[in-house]
Amino acid sequence: MQTLAPLRPVPAAEVDPTDVGQLVREDRVHARVYTDPAIFDMEMERIFERAWIFMAHESQIPNAGDFLTSRIGRHPVIVVRDGKRQVHVLYNRCPHRGAILCREAEGNVHHFACPYHGWSFRTNGDITGIPFRSAYPESFLKDENLSMAHVARVENYRGFIFASVAEQGPSLVEFIGPLKDGLDNLLDRSPTGEIDVSAGVHQYAYKGNWKMQMENGLDEYHPPFSHASTVKPDGQQVQRSYGAKGGFKVLTGSDPNQENARSHYDHGEVHGARHGQAYLTIPDATRRSELDDPEYRRLLVERHGQEKALALIESSNMSNAVFYPSVIMRVTGNMHIRVVRPISVGLTEVLVWPIQIKGVADGINQGIVRYANVHVSVSSFVQTDDLEIFERVYEGLQAGKPDWVMLARGMGQDWDGPYPDEKVGLATWETGMRAQFRYWKEQMTEDRR
Ligand code: FES
Ligand SMILES: [Fe+2]
Repeated sequence: MQTLAPLRPVPAAEVDPTDVGQLVREDRVHARVYTDPAIFDMEMERIFERAWIFMAHESQIPNAGDFLTSRIGRHPVIVVRDGKRQVHVLYNRCPHRGAILCREAEGNVHHFACPYHGWSFRTNGDITGIPFRSAYPESFLKDENLSMAHVARVENYRGFIFASVAEQGPSLVEFIGPLKDGLDNLLDRSPTGEIDVSAGVHQYAYKGNWKMQMENGLDEYHPPFSHASTVKPDGQQVQRSYGAKGGFKVLTGSDPNQENARSHYDHGEVHGARHGQAYLTIPDATRRSELDDPEYRRLLVERHGQEKALALIESSNMSNAVFYPSVIMRVTGNMHIRVVRPISVGLTEVLVWPIQIKGVADGINQGIVRYANVHVSVSSFVQTDDLEIFERVYEGLQAGKPDWVMLARGMGQDWDGPYPDEKVGLATWETGMRAQFRYWKEQMTEDRR
């Protein structure tokens, strides 16, 4: 990957730089919110270190000793299943002199050994070996700080493991609000109520701010333009040469007919609730792909009864569940978990794990992986459009003027949703992004120390 070229700083804004609250208005946010390294630092502390951050699905670490490395904001962490099958989230840092203990993305270990001076730790984080220990006073060897530190809170909701470095705050279920139903809804789509997330990962980075991907997961305004090659009737992702008439469409697009001021993409809804939690509900048959299979339908009817099974299939409720601040889950079609990891103000990493449904024919799961490959992989026909756009936005914002990024679409027209403080709009409205920024402003301006 190319390194990020130095960009000139955004000129001093007209707002008071010490008052971050002024950077967010109801209908717009200041460009500095996406480009200022000082604001990024504050976000790591006030957004990521207060929130519940998705770590893993249980199926990624099924056996004793299985682990994967992750991050909570700037904290490197290890998610690991110990010998008693309990899951821990440990800071990935040696208690001796500070070295990162584990560099691998995932694997299986009996214990963690530090490469610097050889201290070793059980999979529950306990210190188990100190080379040449006789030079240490006995009292020192009893110090509990010699073991790996545990992240303050870990919660597992039906196999989805989240962690928070904040000692206190809302529980996971309180924090994710309506998206708890999104997780239930996702699991209900399995005839056994279970999924598997061990099919592999797509991992890449873009030169842009992390919020761009989190907003884009709720943005149904952009597909006819950013994804024209996919969704227009003459869209052809694969052509032998530029402008050629031949070629073929890899994905089937949606109905391109526009109704004057209203887009086809308004046939769904976008919801924004407390804590920045938001979701899209897109009743779009093209997203179901291999899930539109008679045997799969029969199995769902067997589990849930006709009415609920049909509602699940037809409504596509919470088709994109966007867990602020770090995950997008796609629960229909190319089902996947997409984790957004901020690296710096202008560099963001994305990890996509395709979801496999337990208890269905292999062909259905192969179809989900195939769909994820052409939709959200680094060589896909859709997400690559978005990554290019994120980089264009980040570059464009360096212009400095105009000062603001506009989020007014549908403002004043959105209506109350079924959950507390929830607002609902047509799918192309910026209702979900406004909910994200309500929470952002609240956290960024609230001192807790
Ligand atoms: S820093 Fe890990 S053993 Fe010394
Ligand atoms: Fe997109």
